[in-house]
Amino acid sequence: MTLLAVEGLEKRFGGVQALAGLSLSLDEGGLLCLLGPNGCGKTTFFRVLSGETAADAGRIDFADRRLEGEGPAGRARLGIARKLQTPGLFAALTVAEHLALAAASPAAHGPVDAAALLARVGLGEHAETPAGRLSHGQRQWLEIAMLLALRPRLLLLDEPTAGMTRAETRRTAALLRELNDKDGVAAIVIEHDMAFVRELDVAVAVMLQGRVVATGSYAEVGRDPLVRELYLGKRA
Ligand SMILES: Nc1ncnc2c1ncn2[C@@H]1O[C@H](COP(=O)(O)OP(=O)(O)OP(=O)(O)O)[C@@H](O)[C@H]1O
Ligand SMILES: [Mg+2]
Repeated sequence: MTLLAVEGLEKRFGGVQALAGLSLSLDEGGLLCLLGPNGCGKTTFFRVLSGETAADAGRIDFADRRLEGEGPAGRARLGIARKLQTPGLFAALTVAEHLALAAASPAAHGPVDAAALLARVGLGEHAETPAGRLSHGQRQWLEIAMLLALRPRLLLLDEPTAGMTRAETRRTAALLRELNDKDGVAAIVIEHDMAFVRELDVAVAVMLQGRVVATGSYAEVGRDPLVRELYLGKRA
């Protein structure tokens, strides 16, 4: 069953056509990596999807419901949870306190098992640690746990491994795998790190100049001559 269907999204900022007819779909429980060069519109797509920015044209259907006219709070309540590029944590609050904050949000869907959630993201030993004492990677995982506390239907992660060590990146790939395989969490992950994408071995959508130009497995997309020339070839 289709969870998300995006058709012909357009968004212009002055003279910049950030989204130029972007179409994409994701099945219930699907996991997709969104690749593309700097400035191709990836973050803009997430902002439009989460309702932070209005599109100029196009339509988005989420769980069989047209999202037009639904603001960010409404979309969050419907189960779209977006992680921002910069963490919004309070240095003095503990990991457990952050989770409690998330669970109390109007976007939350029912109670959460905080201990199980923290164990899932590798913070089982850190419930009482203030966020200010966590490593960069741990802070990212706490933010992911806070999104999971909302019990979202779709997780949007914008470069979750930025600034992470290789070991943290590997852990993050394993975490996403597990969330998807065991908990059935659907997610779209914007990622620049090719090692991460290879490791995750999931469906990939390649964006270029505001639209999706190729989709398939990492291997399939990597064989596409256009993609090789335009993007992967330059980075791989
Ligand atoms: N609020 C805004 N005002 C004006 N221009 C914007 C705004 N947001 C994005 N843009 C422009 O739209 C284009 C797409 O930007 P976007 O941030 O979506 O790209 P991106 O694919 O996320 O890039 P990166 O990989 O660098 O994060 C860029 O040319 C950017 O400068
Ligand atoms: Mg971006």
